[in-house]
Amino acid sequence: MIIIKQNYTLHHEKTRCTGDNMKFAQKTAHLSSAIFAQLKTKKIERLASGKEVMDFSIGTPDLPPPRHVIDVIRQEIENPDNYKYAIKDLPELTEAVIGWYQKRFGVSLEPEEITSLFGSQEGLGHIALTLVDPGDVALIPDPGYPIFHVGPMIAGARLYKMPLLRENHYLIDLDRIESTVAHQARLMIVSYPNNPVTATAPPEFYEKLIWFAKKYDIAIIHDNAYCELIFDGPPGGSILNIPGAKDIAVEFNSLSKSYNLTGCRLAFAVGNREMIGHLKNLKSHLDYGIFLPLQKAAIAAISGPQDCIRETVQIYRRRRDILIDGLVSLGWKVDKPPATMFAWAPLPDGYQSSMHFALELMDRTGVLVVPGSSFGDLGEGFVRFALVQPEEEIKKALAAIKASGMISRTQVTNT
Ligand SMILES: Cc1ncc(COP(=O)(O)O)c(C=O)c1O
Repeated sequence: MIIIKQNYTLHHEKTRCTGDNMKFAQKTAHLSSAIFAQLKTKKIERLASGKEVMDFSIGTPDLPPPRHVIDVIRQEIENPDNYKYAIKDLPELTEAVIGWYQKRFGVSLEPEEITSLFGSQEGLGHIALTLVDPGDVALIPDPGYPIFHVGPMIAGARLYKMPLLRENHYLIDLDRIESTVAHQARLMIVSYPNNPVTATAPPEFYEKLIWFAKKYDIAIIHDNAYCELIFDGPPGGSILNIPGAKDIAVEFNSLSKSYNLTGCRLAFAVGNREMIGHLKNLKSHLDYGIFLPLQKAAIAAISGPQDCIRETVQIYRRRRDILIDGLVSLGWKVDKPPATMFAWAPLPDGYQSSMHFALELMDRTGVLVVPGSSFGDLGEGFVRFALVQPEEEIKKALAAIKASGMISRTQVTNT
């Protein structure tokens, strides 16, 4: 390492820095401000002009966290000792994660195979820094949740996009990845049930994925944020159930959607101990651990009664049915999502740009959705609805869409 020594003298009396010549790093200069921040600005502008917004954009649940979790936070914030740096995960938290994975997924974990995260988003961003050097290839899905490309991009990776196509049930087609690319790849990000396309993946897919990853020595990151939100088909599983997965894979599992705790920023990475070790080491330089009342809230969530999850799924299922049945009856052909808290809707006839459509929809109806293009090139042609509004609001949104006349009845012929 080269350390440049310099004599620092303060010249602030002579020169005033205006910032005009400031240079910014290439690795972040090309990041556009996240789409959710842009949509929020639009929403605020519209609300300021006195107009209504029915917000189906961000996937942050409108449902409350379980009562017993709130009670733990309330009790623990009264304890002054809980305001110190946590530094590490409490041993009781690690034990709770071990119990949760055993009970829920039948997966045995050791403490070295677990780290907490300030939400999966933080972990997905940071783990890429531990796995790729500038120029290495990272395999990411298209469309994909934005941090899937932003993390590797900041780490300097070359991105290779794996198409998720409707005709392939939105599964990654591993046979289509050229072996020259696979040999250069250090990291692959996979996520089912999938945001935004809502698809689930069968065990055979994961078996092939692990075989492929081992063949080419590619670290797998499986984002399992929606494992509890499945409407049709068998319950969600863990990639770590697949034999050999722990040799090559880490799973991210978030409490955000399963327990309606998005604002608490609570998630875990579990699996391959070397990968977890490197991530923990990096994080030990960046943060001092999760606020202790929230660590205790996480213990309460994953070890306490789980009926809140069933109730949440029922609520989303009803909302899904009202929204999709309603859109289809208007002539907008949208498939019923089998999982997640989203609907992935192809643009109605006559529209090509998802951004234009989303803006027009907001202008003419007050309904706010996310343009599919913000999830990658193959997201163009779609918009994403998040099922984060109560049934009455969904009905109101359907009525507004109907009144706008934006949907042509001819689409009904596709059904
Ligand atoms: C696929 C996916 N991964 C990760 C996240 C982020 O979750 P967290 O709140 O744990 O950061 C989201 C949030 O919407 C998501 O959809």
